[in-house]
Amino acid sequence: MKYLIFSDVHSNLEALLAMKSFAQKKKIDAYLFLGDLVGYNASPNECIQQFQNLSPLYMIRGNHDKAVSGHDSLHSFNPIAAAAIIWTRDALNTQNKLFLMNLKKGPQEVNQEITICHGAPYDEDYYIFGPFDAVEAFYHFSTKICFFGHTHLPRIYIKRNNMVEELIVEQEKFQIKIEEGARYLINPGSLGQPRDRNIKSSFLIFNTTTCKITFYRISYDYRLTQSRILEAGLPPALADRLSLGI
Ligand SMILES: [Fe+2]
Repeated sequence: MKYLIFSDVHSNLEALLAMKSFAQKKKIDAYLFLGDLVGYNASPNECIQQFQNLSPLYMIRGNHDKAVSGHDSLHSFNPIAAAAIIWTRDALNTQNKLFLMNLKKGPQEVNQEITICHGAPYDEDYYIFGPFDAVEAFYHFSTKICFFGHTHLPRIYIKRNNMVEELIVEQEKFQIKIEEGARYLINPGSLGQPRDRNIKSSFLIFNTTTCKITFYRISYDYRLTQSRILEAGLPPALADRLSLGI
């Protein structure tokens, strides 16, 4: 079984389309989505439509999806993120707003091996930023692997016996083999707004037959995404950050 696992699309249509054409060549069996389909960028309706065409096997909401659909207030968002949430609320059609509203809260168990969550397995809004957070998070899921998003940073935390190791994924393509006896917390990075100073879209493929996980970075037409942001009247800083990877 080949899963493509992705997170934090944030209304970036060009990045989503680039991933879809990449995925076609890889013969993906199922998609798992870790939350934040909307927010920041300017194509929420188009992204929801393309996302629905993928028919992800499991999908959960992120903090932006929650705020846009009215499940949460804006107090935890910075002014630029909040402006984009208000813009997105306005731009979404009723059907798509309803779709976001009905996205499930994480964590969700996909099967006996895989859990997915947005922030952390014990709190969908919590950020796992380093090994200290990861140590705690390992106590809050029972499967071998938990995939998470939210930080927009591709990371692997491996727990062997009582030691947790952090791997920062910086390569354009990076592969690990899942070890017997170890447990994993893995962030595929962000599809639509990478923040590790690499502007390329980030996601991963988990091949359960070979027990290998491969991280990918792919180019997309970020200039078009930027021009859509500016045309929409969203804060220009949201366009700038796409060409900086921050
Ligand atoms: Fe996000």
